[in-house]
Amino acid sequence: MTTRARIAGAGFFVPERVVSNHDLEQLMDTNDEWIRQRSGIEERRYITPGETPADLAQRASQRALAAAGLEPRDVDLIVLATLSSQHEFPGTSFFLQRQLGLDDTPCMDLRAQCTGFLYALTTANAMVRSGQFQRVLAVGCEVHSTGIDLTTEGRDVAVLFGDGAGAVVVEAADAGEAAGILECRLHAQGANAEKLWLEFPSSGHTPVRIDHEAIDQKRHFPRMEGRQVFKHAVTRLPEVLLEALSAASLKLEDVDLFLFHQANLRINEYVANQLGIPPEKCLSNIQRYGNCSAASIPILLAEAWEAGRLTPGTTVAMTAFGSGFSWGSAIARF
Ligand code: COA
Repeated sequence: MTTRARIAGAGFFVPERVVSNHDLEQLMDTNDEWIRQRSGIEERRYITPGETPADLAQRASQRALAAAGLEPRDVDLIVLATLSSQHEFPGTSFFLQRQLGLDDTPCMDLRAQCTGFLYALTTANAMVRSGQFQRVLAVGCEVHSTGIDLTTEGRDVAVLFGDGAGAVVVEAADAGEAAGILECRLHAQGANAEKLWLEFPSSGHTPVRIDHEAIDQKRHFPRMEGRQVFKHAVTRLPEVLLEALSAASLKLEDVDLFLFHQANLRINEYVANQLGIPPEKCLSNIQRYGNCSAASIPILLAEAWEAGRLTPGTTVAMTAFGSGFSWGSAIARF
């Protein structure tokens, strides 16, 4: 059993097509001021025809591998978190594996919505520590733009989400090395499954997974009880962050950078303020990318990596919440 796993490299990729709040004003009854005030979002990225989730994941993965000085063949497991799978089956990870030119590297999709990347990181950490795998590629990848209702009816959800992918390489740390994934804490509460969900297509719907009635009622678009989700977030984010820090025998002051899930800038500002975290320690990119669900945290991490902010000794706390409900936190030292 390896005592510790570490993050050896991070990369991200977002599609080139920028969709501003003003662009959305052309599609639905919304406005830039409402979106900015409620969420902090100014623009997001959408894929263009021909671009796929696996394409985004591939570019992010290649950048993460390059950052770690590795080739795709050095990876011995891929764990990809997504709520917007390229197809019902096989998972997006299989298309990614193929596009990375890999032949028989095992891969799997993991579904824990906006907490998905932290579930993937926790899985990668455990896999490496078990000794069964040496290097795991943990990816968060979402294409929301093709699955949201871009009309006034869907505006409460549609304005919040964007497309993107982020990836990290997790590998065994050398004996005695200070860098590593220090603690991971995960939670879930299926009792709230319908508070933020995509009902159709559903394999529990007979005789077929989706019918015209469901489509006419727009039940193939995500639906959210915004206020309930907001409440869940502002309670669970601080709770699980403090839980993970305590498990790592660290205090809030020991953390150099806080990477909160990018669902809503107001949620993150509220949580930071409640905990007394200085704003300059909280990274955010929601202004530019919106909520990229499982991709939000690895994109933030990769941006910090590329900006040279993850210097040796830097302690990072990642915390997320989302549909399920799900929530979690991971503490890593670089
Ligand atoms: N543009 C303009 N107006 C909008 C709008 C939009 N995109 N979406 C909703 N509105 C309207 C509503 O119809 C409502 O109008 P009404 O008062 O005439 O009925 C009004 O704005 C207020 O809506 P409400 O839902 O009460 O707003 P809110 O203050 O709760 O903010 C959210 C909505 C979604 C921003 C907020 O609830 C939130 O951030 N929730 C958490 C969402 C989240 O994090 N989701 C991702 C989880 S991973």
